[in-house]
Amino acid sequence: MELEPFKSIYRQSSGQCIDSLREFGYAITRLELEPSAAFDSEWRQFKESWNKLEADRYLKAATTYRFRRYAAYDYFSLAGNLRQKPHQGFRQTTTEGVNNPYAGQERIFAPLTDDIANGQWLRILIQANIELFSRLLANPISHWTVGVHQIRVLGTSSVAGSPTPEGIHRDGYRFLASHLVNSSNLAGGASRIYDGGRKLIKEVALRQPGDTVLLDDRRVYHEATPVYPLNSNLGKAERDVIVISYDEV
Ligand SMILES: [Fe+2]
Repeated sequence: MELEPFKSIYRQSSGQCIDSLREFGYAITRLELEPSAAFDSEWRQFKESWNKLEADRYLKAATTYRFRRYAAYDYFSLAGNLRQKPHQGFRQTTTEGVNNPYAGQERIFAPLTDDIANGQWLRILIQANIELFSRLLANPISHWTVGVHQIRVLGTSSVAGSPTPEGIHRDGYRFLASHLVNSSNLAGGASRIYDGGRKLIKEVALRQPGDTVLLDDRRVYHEATPVYPLNSNLGKAERDVIVISYDEV
């Protein structure tokens, strides 16, 4: 599919994001949601699709607290062309230092539903991030592979849900973007970023829809703290994110 031109989708200028990624290996920013009236109903549809995720059956926990869907894409920079790949298993690298208990294992997650897989918001996010990340590269990447994960983590007063049960890790990609799409009764779930020596350099709680962490996955490690209810009388906590990985083919 062809992508239309668009203005920056981030409140912070892309220059500030790039400076931060260059200096620290990460950037914290927020999607520009309110002025995008044209996308308002699409955003609502996008957000509500987190109610239709499927249980993560690979989670090594007594209680299922993580739900997800997955899709992969090719992106060709020159033509600005984004193409969904046939649905496939998800397998993470066995590269040293990535620290992933699922490394090398194929996990089959439910596919993105067609409305989300082909919707405006996903295309906007992917193209915006690729344009931003491309400005960090000495040598442009002409063919990207992009992994899209819709993830909901629940937390109750008896079981805190861990967004990253693997602990401090990298994911083995060139770049990562994590966008908060929605949350409910949420405490915890803070994003932590560590330098290459695994020293904590930033902790930020994504709380507003559109809050975003961009990572240079080769330079920094990350994790997220357990999720639990802000008010236990109000039931469970929900943390809905879209995590998108970007790598060179
Ligand atoms: Fe990760």
